[in-house]
Amino acid sequence: MVESRDGDASPNDVSDSASDLTRMTDADPQSLAAYYDKWAGSYDADLPKMGYDAPMRAAAIMQDQGVAPDAPILDAGCGTGLTGLELSKAGYRDITGIDISLESLQAAEAKGVYRHLKKRDMNKPLAFGDNGFGALQCIGTLTYVREVRKLFAEFCRVVKRGGIISFTQRADLYDGAFAKAIQATVRVGLWEQVSHSDPMPYLPNHQDFGDQKRVFYDVYRVK
Ligand SMILES: C[S@@+](CC[C@H](N)C(=O)[O-])C[C@H]1O[C@@H](n2cnc3c(N)ncnc32)[C@H](O)[C@@H]1O
Repeated sequence: MVESRDGDASPNDVSDSASDLTRMTDADPQSLAAYYDKWAGSYDADLPKMGYDAPMRAAAIMQDQGVAPDAPILDAGCGTGLTGLELSKAGYRDITGIDISLESLQAAEAKGVYRHLKKRDMNKPLAFGDNGFGALQCIGTLTYVREVRKLFAEFCRVVKRGGIISFTQRADLYDGAFAKAIQATVRVGLWEQVSHSDPMPYLPNHQDFGDQKRVFYDVYRVK
């Protein structure tokens, strides 16, 4: 259920999948694929009602960091393609999307903004060659990855030296293992920090998120 705020989304406006979102935080990859498959048909209608603006912010980060319009960008956890759509509006034309949910990938394909779309579980090696991407973004997805340190190493492998890696993570899940994985990746010399935002609104009109669950926007540069 989503509470109404100042005339925003009323409880009946969003699908049951949207209401169930926080229940999925610790779900296994198979359950997540099934959940996002089921949500794929209504995800694009639900997210704006919940005040979701991360795709726009992420695209602005790519521009602010000077990522060239023709740079190959990996949208890791692309979902239904809202993130790719904003990259495309910002002028990016070589976007590859990966996600574990086939139905979401099909919705992403229908947007016509991705050069390649592949079904991938990001708990496994990424199955791309080294240094093939100029930049990478991972928006709203790291919550679900078990071995995030291994994934960060994979991100640094597939993005070329000097390339930008931009991701979000929920503020309530950031400290502890997640922050340690970031620091370990710094320590082994794979990336360096570019920026770490204040805690930002994520789904301001969702009853479980609102002001309680904000997100950080982090940017790292591959060394
Ligand atoms: C909240 S959605 C975000 C989608 C998109 N980035 C956006 O901002 O709209 C989270 C996405 O993570 C994907 N996902 C969850 N676990 C995954 C995994 N292990 N590997 C790849 N994708 C995964 C889900 O299928 C879902 O599309």
